Amino acid sequence: MNAAEYHGRLNPCAFVRTYGCQQNVADSEKIKGILLNMGYNLTNDESTADLILFNTCAVREHAEDRVFGNVGALKSRKKKNPKLIVAVCGCMPEEKHVVERLKKTFPFVDLVFGTRSFSHLESLLKRLYLEKRRVFEYGVEEKVVAEGLPIHRDGDLKAYLSIMYGCDNFCSYCIVPYTRGRERSRKYADVIKEAHSIVEGGYKEITLLGQNVNSYGKGLHEGISFPKLLNDIANINGDFWVRFMTSHPKDATRELIDFMAKNDKICNHIHLPFQSGSNRILSRMNRKYTREDYVEIVRYARCKIPNVSITSDIIVGFPGETYEDFCETLSLVKEIGFTALFTFIYSRRTGTKAASFPDPVPYSEKNKWFQQLLEVQKEKTSEYCESVQGEIMRVLVEKSADANGHLTARNEGNVVVDVEGDKDLIGKFVNVRIVGYKNWVLKGEVIN
Ligand code: SAH
Ligand code: SF4
Ligand code: F3S
Repeated sequence: MNAAEYHGRLNPCAFVRTYGCQQNVADSEKIKGILLNMGYNLTNDESTADLILFNTCAVREHAEDRVFGNVGALKSRKKKNPKLIVAVCGCMPEEKHVVERLKKTFPFVDLVFGTRSFSHLESLLKRLYLEKRRVFEYGVEEKVVAEGLPIHRDGDLKAYLSIMYGCDNFCSYCIVPYTRGRERSRKYADVIKEAHSIVEGGYKEITLLGQNVNSYGKGLHEGISFPKLLNDIANINGDFWVRFMTSHPKDATRELIDFMAKNDKICNHIHLPFQSGSNRILSRMNRKYTREDYVEIVRYARCKIPNVSITSDIIVGFPGETYEDFCETLSLVKEIGFTALFTFIYSRRTGTKAASFPDPVPYSEKNKWFQQLLEVQKEKTSEYCESVQGEIMRVLVEKSADANGHLTARNEGNVVVDVEGDKDLIGKFVNVRIVGYKNWVLKGEVIN
């Protein structure tokens, strides 16, 4: 039985909603590719869909609560339309307690599969069509990355390219090594082939993805390091930018910075999450670098690439963190001067090491620290915006911002630049002079 026969419609519609990080966005692009191949049309309208799929994130409790809320809201729709397929996939189904809850409390969820099962989506759906009972698949071990899956990319300007999956770092707060399994890299030739097809497809920006791109190639025995892969991709003929995320500071090497400095097509941007400025907390987080190591690699990057944009992730209120520890985070934020920060209040994840650490500081107190951090970062972002006034920079124009001729662009540092100009500029690189800023968005005037 195929999709059309099961749903009783020639072109049944599928709605895919993605939560979480870019890795999930990239996985959803493959899921969409598979669904299109099976005869589904993609829709943005959940209310008319024959198949609703949530690709979920487990990184913080809040993310999970949102998914449970949105899935719960489908109960009555499923009652009205028993042929509707409700699927939950991604990181949440890789957690035991989530699977149990889905099994018991959400009987109208038909299909549940984990992060290492999306390549089996077609056969899982076919099982569902035939057997007409709930299908679950999670905890599958994937030793070699599945290749050759169809991809339906969301945009036509910027493309994600997953170079590796999983994580072996086991930072003590983090659920990702449990939900995504052991680290595995795609073969060099497969990555390069996909990069070529992206460039041939006219994309202007490629973002290489992995939980820790710096450990690319471990276990492959091909002898290709991440900086080499990055450089080889940037050297493909064509006018495009390459970015990457995420870089774990413990593995960010001088070699990486040197390649970035030498190759104009590699964006001068490094997302380098430091999580905490306190060595005591870094050690309890199992991050395997010190504040001093971090400052040193940033110093090297700034020396080789003076306009490098550094962004970071921070966790506030890790179990056992004191106000003094937090102040060390604040002082590092002041010292480094990040162009952007992604800040989170610690969220306890069942099964992680830190889940068993005493956590005496109340949430309300952590929230006060968090607000303090946001205030400091606001000042730093204003300082950055001031510092680039009058500069000429290359930006990639992405889309219309409004009907009055404002366009949204980004510079190499991934900072948003508002540009006035014709819609014809969308999809193009242009040089702009920075002539102001508002709410941390730079204002640029086209000069070519
Ligand atoms: N692999 C990336 C991070 C992926 S998760 C890296 O190592 O840098 C993205 C961010 O979510 C992390 O950098 C961290 O700041 C945050 N995060 C992860 N687990 C968290 C938790 N339990 N509570 C709060 N924030 C968390
Ligand atoms: Fe999580 Fe650490 Fe792995 Fe990043 S490196 S995904 S924070 S365990
Ligand atoms: Fe979330 Fe999974 Fe990414 S937990 S952050 S979607 S790897």
